[in-house]
Amino acid sequence: MRRPIIAANWKMNCTTGQANELVNNFKALVTQVTEVDIVLAPPFTALATVGQLISGSNIALAAQNMYWEESGAYTGEVSPGMLIDIGCKYVIIGHSERRAYFGETDETVNKKIKKALEHNLTPIVCVGESLAQRENNETQAVVVLQIRRGLQGLTSEQMQKIVLAYEPIWAIGTGKTATPEQANDVHHFIRRKLAGIFDEATASAVRIQYGGSVKPASVDELMAQSDIDGALVGGAALKADSFARIVKFEA
Ligand code: PGA
Repeated sequence: MRRPIIAANWKMNCTTGQANELVNNFKALVTQVTEVDIVLAPPFTALATVGQLISGSNIALAAQNMYWEESGAYTGEVSPGMLIDIGCKYVIIGHSERRAYFGETDETVNKKIKKALEHNLTPIVCVGESLAQRENNETQAVVVLQIRRGLQGLTSEQMQKIVLAYEPIWAIGTGKTATPEQANDVHHFIRRKLAGIFDEATASAVRIQYGGSVKPASVDELMAQSDIDGALVGGAALKADSFARIVKFEA
């Protein structure tokens, strides 16, 4: 069985003071949770604060992005070694907001995944279609391209270390969750593609999160689906009680 993984993507939210309050409140609510991998991805400026607060706990630290070089003249960028140094275990790669606003492509996603794996950082790799693409019945074609290009050149062993996140863009921050069936259909499709590109063992081992307006009210049904192994949560992760309820889903 795949171990569930629930991650908070704080995006560009929370000063260190706000992070402190949110994490302290959240941590106290989830101390008993042992069956779920819990991940927090604060902005870079709060990584050190959050890292200290969750040190030794059942919560792991993630960054929201990284660059694929080790060091050097890349103003404004952060390297995987720096993320490891500050205690990160995970890094989100290829979020749709980075693709839409910051020029992220499947090629840059691919470079970042390979570099993250070299450093033993677990990539959480995001894929997903826009509303126009869904309405044009292009969901599968879009997602398969993102997977083929983004995961190009990886071995099965490397692939099994990656977490995928299916995030339909039309469901992100809009309050429109994909129905559990809609989401599971795409998850199932992705898993079949992974079996073709890699092998059955890899396809059944890889954890696929759903993301897009996951809320306490929708998480249980989503997590009850056969191919949904977790959630990547934005807005609802900015409140301790709501994210704690999501982490304590009942499937
Ligand atoms: P949302 O964001 O939960 O606010 O829709 C999810 C995400 O973008 O990862």
